[in-house]
Amino acid sequence: MITDPFIARTVRELRMQLEPLRENGAKVAFVPTMGALHAGHQALMARAAELADICVVSIFVNPTQFGEGEDFAKYPRTWESDFARCAQAGVAVIFAPNEEVVYGGKKQVSVKVGSLADGFEGADRPGHFDGVATVVAKLFNMVQPDVAIFGEKDAQQLAIVRAMVRSLDFTVAIESLATVRESDGLAMSSRNRYLSDSERSSARVIPQSLEAAKANADRGLRAVVAAVHAVFETEPTVGVSYIAVVDPQTFVEVGADHHGEALLLIAASVGSTRLIDNTLLNLHALAVTVMT
Ligand code: PAF
Repeated sequence: MITDPFIARTVRELRMQLEPLRENGAKVAFVPTMGALHAGHQALMARAAELADICVVSIFVNPTQFGEGEDFAKYPRTWESDFARCAQAGVAVIFAPNEEVVYGGKKQVSVKVGSLADGFEGADRPGHFDGVATVVAKLFNMVQPDVAIFGEKDAQQLAIVRAMVRSLDFTVAIESLATVRESDGLAMSSRNRYLSDSERSSARVIPQSLEAAKANADRGLRAVVAAVHAVFETEPTVGVSYIAVVDPQTFVEVGADHHGEALLLIAASVGSTRLIDNTLLNLHALAVTVMT
């Protein structure tokens, strides 16, 4: 039987709903979202159901993580289908605050992320990760979950949330889930719905480039980067913002002699839509043969 989730618009409503459940020993899992829910979010909700007794989903398009000229105004707001997906997934509470509830009179203090936010998404979108970290910290304090679940597509965001939890001594456990993909490999994203049919078709080079990287990982970093560029050259309408291979913990770029785990990060623009993706690689540096 599907029971409709309770909709909490204020922190007081949220707490009144959660407190009795918690007093009865219920463990709370939290999935923070900006709405426009898709199968990737549903996988996060399903994981939440495995990890805890009740699942809270927040739906809040957070203005402080969008830069000037970015898509805050046009970000898809799809309340009806979001509600249906939450109900389907057995979500107990949807927390859907407005800007006043989240930020009204409360902007004196915010979270500033350190060097993890310097490169890649942080460099291309100045202030983005401070906005993300601040709203996630606020949502953690509002919901007070035992565990929160994030998708691995936003790899830098996930690393920053983990670092914030460590740095600020939050007690919430952070869980992550592998990226959910369309049948042709494109990572599920709320922004995919901006793509026209031809852009959607061009966007396939992103997952194709990840596959090419994996196929070349045993030949070392240079071969991986060359293989990724070669795939993007087949689709010149897609503009690459960055291709980087980094240490998965520090997000510092690895050198050509790197051996072992590394994370390939890609950001690309398809028309006016910016998409990101990543994959873990097991790199093998090529042995140098010295001729005598
Ligand atoms: O990943 C997202 O959807 C957002 O960045 C988050 C974590 C909900 C914060 O607004």
